[in-house]
Amino acid sequence: MKRIAIVTGASAGLGTEFVVQIDRRMELDEIWLVARRADRLEALAERLTRARGVAVQADLGVSEGVEVLRERLAAEQPDLALLVNNAGFGRYGRFEEVEREPQLEMIDLNCRALTAITYDALPYIRPGGAVIQVASLAGYVPIANHAVYAATKAYALSFGVALAGELEERSVRVLTLCPGPVATEFASVASGGTRKKMRGAESAERVVRVALDDLERRRWISLTTLNWKLTAAASRILTRRFLARYTNRTRRE
Ligand SMILES: NC(=O)c1ccc[n+]([C@@H]2O[C@H](COP(=O)([O-])OP(=O)(O)OC[C@H]3O[C@@H](n4cnc5c(N)ncnc54)[C@H](OP(=O)(O)O)[C@@H]3O)[C@@H](O)[C@H]2O)c1
Repeated sequence: MKRIAIVTGASAGLGTEFVVQIDRRMELDEIWLVARRADRLEALAERLTRARGVAVQADLGVSEGVEVLRERLAAEQPDLALLVNNAGFGRYGRFEEVEREPQLEMIDLNCRALTAITYDALPYIRPGGAVIQVASLAGYVPIANHAVYAATKAYALSFGVALAGELEERSVRVLTLCPGPVATEFASVASGGTRKKMRGAESAERVVRVALDDLERRRWISLTTLNWKLTAAASRILTRRFLARYTNRTRRE
């Protein structure tokens, strides 16, 4: 039986970095690289030095795309050592001013697909295996002018940690990664191409390295800097009303 890892959103940013570092750190036969841009997935597959990279083109924002992965798992019955649910996107702007569809698509990808893929993958994860749910520091804070995105990440955070509680007894680890700003294509996608960079962004290389170290340490949540640990702690003390008003003042586009 082949031993594999799956990384969704592997064609850019954190996903690409997960693939490269997992290839270096784990003994695997294959890494399945999932996203829409097949050319990027194939180029990344070529770069792998240990495992075989398998490009799986799928639009996870729609049920048919999630089904592609489910059917492949059923056909190949692999030993899934690590699932990284990383595909996701955000959209900056005031809720009523951003188009309706991308906001609903955000929920489909960041919540629905993440949930469905986890459900479909768990039968193939044995004791010792693991899941990384990529949430965000945004999951701790109701962020005005990024409202739907923050809500989807609050879902991922709550779901990931609850699942860690359930799966502990069968020795399956679940790490929920909550990065602050990271230098990827995220800002460009979220701004419709007008913003390329985020202030104080960490490198994807560091965020993924800390996450994989935290997974080895059996942590349940990965907050990658002291600053983000303090922000997460403060979000539990400050009221949600304060946070929403504060972000409404500071995050107007
Ligand atoms: N960058 C940050 O500041 C930051 C902070 C906290 C959390 N995060 C989270 O980190 C994760 C990765 O984001 P990133 O920063 O690496 O952004 P990114 O560079 O824009 O990468 C996003 C990835 O998701 C894939 N994706 C988007 N829509 C998809 C769809 N419908 N079906 C399949 N794949 C899809 C993209 O591939 P295709 O376009 O080829 O499909 C791409 O590989 C996201 O969940 C994001 O919310 C990011």
